[in-house]
Amino acid sequence: MNITGTTELLGVIGFPVKHSLSPVFQNAALSYMGLNMVYLPFEIRPENLRDAVRGLMLAGVRGLNVTVPHKEAVLELADWLSDEVREIGAANTLKFSGGRIEAYNTDWVGFLRAVREVVDVENRKVLVLGAGGASRAVLYALKKAGAQILLWNRTREKAVKLADRFGVRAVDSVEEAIEEAEVIVNTTSVGLKEDDPPLFDYGLIKREHVVIDLIYRETPLIRTARERGCSFQTGFPMLVYQGAESFRIWTGCEPPLKIMKLSLKDYGYPTESSRTLLRT
Ligand code: ATR
Repeated sequence: MNITGTTELLGVIGFPVKHSLSPVFQNAALSYMGLNMVYLPFEIRPENLRDAVRGLMLAGVRGLNVTVPHKEAVLELADWLSDEVREIGAANTLKFSGGRIEAYNTDWVGFLRAVREVVDVENRKVLVLGAGGASRAVLYALKKAGAQILLWNRTREKAVKLADRFGVRAVDSVEEAIEEAEVIVNTTSVGLKEDDPPLFDYGLIKREHVVIDLIYRETPLIRTARERGCSFQTGFPMLVYQGAESFRIWTGCEPPLKIMKLSLKDYGYPTESSRTLLRT
C-alpha cells in the first residue's frame, strides 16, 4: 500500500464494526484499480453518530458505508436522499460531495443481483422471514422484481406494519406459508450463531424450494438446503454486490467483482458452491 499526501479515505461506520468484511474486499478493489484511496472501519456509538459523520466529512473522507445500527439514523443527517432510500427508509452508503451528505441504498440491488444468480423471482411466491431493517431492502427489491411476497415475523405486529407499507401479505404461520412458497428468504439474525434454535422445522424444506439467507456463513438453514439439493444463496454475494455498487458511487469506476470475491476466499466466500465466482 502506497499512502501519500493525496491518499483519500473511504470507510464503514457501524457499532460494532470489527466483524465487517467490507474493508477486506473494498481495499482489494481499490488497490487493483490503482486508486489512491484506502477504506477503514470506524466503530461509532449511536450517540456520537452526528458528530462522527460530520467530522469524517470535514476531514475530507469521500464516502462511507453504513451498517447496523445506523442505517435509519443517517437519513436525518443527509442533505439528499435517493428515491430508494426514501422508499426503504434506510441507507447503507453516504457520499460527501461539496460539503453535502448524499444518502444511497445499495442493499436492495445487491440482494437482487445475488438472488437472480439462483432464481428469477418474477411471479414467484417468495416467503420473507423477518421484519427488521434488512427485510425492508429485501421487500423493496422483491417488489421491484415482480415477486408475490408473503411476510412472516416472530413479532406479528411488525410484519403487519411492514406488509401494509409495502403492499404485501403478512402470514401467521411459517409452516403453512412454506407449503405455497417457492422461494424462502431469511432476513433475521437467526443462524448467526451455530446453536441458534431454528426459525422453523427445517424438515419442511423440499428440493424444489430456493433458499436465500442474508447471513454470510453457512447457516443451518443453508446447510439443510444444500443437503436437500435445493438451489440456495448465502449472504456473501449480496455483501459483495452491495459493496460493488457503493464503490461505483464513490469512485465512478466499474467495480472489479472478481477481485472483490477472490479477496474474501480466506474469509469463507463459498468458492466451491458459487458458480458465479469465475464468471464475473
Ligand atoms: P436487521 O437490521 O439485521 O434486520 P433488526 O432490525 O434488529 O436487524 O431485525 C432483526 C430481525 O430478526 C427481526 O425480524 C427479529 O424479529 P422480531 O421483530 O420478532 O424481534 C428477527 N429475530 C431476531 N431473533 C429472532 C429469533 N430468535 N426468532 C425469530 N426471529 C428473530
